[in-house]
Amino acid sequence: MTLESFSKGALTFIRATNASGLSVTLCDFGAAIYEIRFKGRAMTIAEKDLEEWKASSSYFGKTVGRMAGRIPNGDLDYLGKHHKVDANDGTNCLHGGKEGFSFLPFKMDVVHLGNGVSVDYYLVSKAGAMGFPGEVDLRVRYFIPENESSLKITYEMKSSEQTPLNITCHAYFNLGGDATVENQKLYVKAEETEHYDEHLAPLGFQKSPECLNFLTPKAVGRDIGDPFLQKSKTLGYDHCFLLENHDPKEAIATLESPVAKMSLFTDYPALQIYSDNYPRLTHLLNTGMKEGLHAGLAIEPVFKPKDFRGMTVLPYETKKMWIEYVFTSKEA
Ligand code: BGC
Repeated sequence: MTLESFSKGALTFIRATNASGLSVTLCDFGAAIYEIRFKGRAMTIAEKDLEEWKASSSYFGKTVGRMAGRIPNGDLDYLGKHHKVDANDGTNCLHGGKEGFSFLPFKMDVVHLGNGVSVDYYLVSKAGAMGFPGEVDLRVRYFIPENESSLKITYEMKSSEQTPLNITCHAYFNLGGDATVENQKLYVKAEETEHYDEHLAPLGFQKSPECLNFLTPKAVGRDIGDPFLQKSKTLGYDHCFLLENHDPKEAIATLESPVAKMSLFTDYPALQIYSDNYPRLTHLLNTGMKEGLHAGLAIEPVFKPKDFRGMTVLPYETKKMWIEYVFTSKEA
């Protein structure tokens, strides 16, 4: 395992490279994955320019919280109380508001465990931050094993009062740094997907139409122009897939390119999949490509939209949720 650290302005990056050829570059800003590389190839995308990446409205690799997804009109009704939360997406609150966890500096600690290295990020979010109740104490742990090509993220959450938290990782995968992810094959173990109104407010789960059915792996681009997707004006995928009652030991999603495969494991009950539908076309990425339509696929394990019971953290309990990405090489 080699560990390197570098800074850019106020940002501190740490890069861990293990014996399997997996290299993970993390940043204290947004407790983020800036980049994952495997055997020298980019597995994720992000702006090459670190200042641009910091300000990015695409959340490339950042930790999202307090609440992944949209709260329509910023109206959070929770335990009989109304909370007005920050509206940063038209009238909606998206991904926890404009000072959500993605845009905050975390404290960092590197812990050497017997079988690998953990990079831990800590944040205390004051009661009332962005309108949400309870003071929240979050630890985001990235574990990189000595020899295996996997990255495990654990979120450890505490709160001073009962509060909903839906924390995820907004990494965009593109296995090998292609111009678009459209030719890479996606599998998702889900039969139902969330439906939305024209402002992307969630309406509930329904059996997936064919274009949202990835039970048999298919190219991301195959049905991406389907009229069903045009109805919600999403220009691609921006849907929540239901994984209820899955076995966390089984991969619930895989993405596969000619060079590599990523298998995703988690104990979250749903997956938000977003295909970079609003790229900033002039932005240069870490892959050397300009950010084009469908440049990457954010595959975000989450609680179901509006499942506040699932999201709840009780006062002073320590709640844990985890996500793991496992990479396999398809090259000789
Ligand atoms: C959401 C998209 C949003 C994007 C922002 C995704 O998680 O599902 O609707 O535009 O994040 O980068």
